Amino acid sequence: MTQNALVTGADRGLGQGLTAGLLARGWQVFAGQYLPDWPELGQLKAQYPDLLHLVPLDVGSIESALAAAEAVASLTDRLDVIINNAGVASRTSRTPITEPQDYDEMHRLYNVNALGPLRVVEAFLPLVGSSEMKRLCFVSSEAGSIGQAQRTAWYAYCMSKAALNMGVKLMYNHLRPEGYTFRLYHPGWVRSYMGGKKNPDADLEPEVAAAYALPFFLDARADEDRLVLRDYLGREWPF
Ligand SMILES: NC(=O)c1ccc[n+]([C@@H]2O[C@H](COP(=O)([O-])OP(=O)(O)OC[C@H]3O[C@@H](n4cnc5c(N)ncnc54)[C@H](OP(=O)(O)O)[C@@H]3O)[C@@H](O)[C@H]2O)c1
Repeated sequence: MTQNALVTGADRGLGQGLTAGLLARGWQVFAGQYLPDWPELGQLKAQYPDLLHLVPLDVGSIESALAAAEAVASLTDRLDVIINNAGVASRTSRTPITEPQDYDEMHRLYNVNALGPLRVVEAFLPLVGSSEMKRLCFVSSEAGSIGQAQRTAWYAYCMSKAALNMGVKLMYNHLRPEGYTFRLYHPGWVRSYMGGKKNPDADLEPEVAAAYALPFFLDARADEDRLVLRDYLGREWPF
């Protein structure tokens, strides 16, 4: 039986790498498309016309999430895995507290990074509930770890990821007893497009970062009854 996944923010960066990696494993992928003019998903669609479905999805909007869920439900009655990957960072949000803060920008990051995955789970949960795996994956960041925080600014990004971690913990408390399984993940420093253009200084190409991430997202784990934030090297982070 073909397995089905939804990936948010699939146009480029890690999400595109995860989409390509899932397709190469024979999965059917519903790829959340936020940038219809960006070419990479179109190229993958030409390569995997039957397995890849492009679904318009802005995780910042519940209307968009519900419409995307309806579109996916018209094609399948089951999602085995959701990978909540979509996220935003911002250069201006690195301003220290001794300078004026950009509160609109903080709201934008919180809306996408912390609330976006909640909208996606709300909209798609019935489809995941029909599967055996019932797997909910969340791309967080070491930046959301309160226990290991070293930065002296980056308020918007760090606080949005810490809030995401709390949201995942609340979902875990509710849904783990119903059989859902959870993955909370820091992907490493990825040569992705956060900040608008590809960052060549980072450590990992998106496809390499995806190759690290997919076993963690897809494989069974002995410790399903403990929510952990793991990084791409398998290290556990306090959160
Ligand atoms: N890059 C790193 O080193 C790093 C480290 C730790 C964690 N992460 C996390 O990894 C995840 C993937 O990021 P990435 O590094 O691959 O960055 P990326 O290249 O910017 O990819 C993120 C994708 O999500 C899209 N997106 C933005 N807002 C969205 C929305 N409202 N709805 C749906 N999609 C939206 C982005 O579009 P735009 O390009 O238009 O914004 C982009 O296509 C994020 O959650 C990020 O926080 C990244």
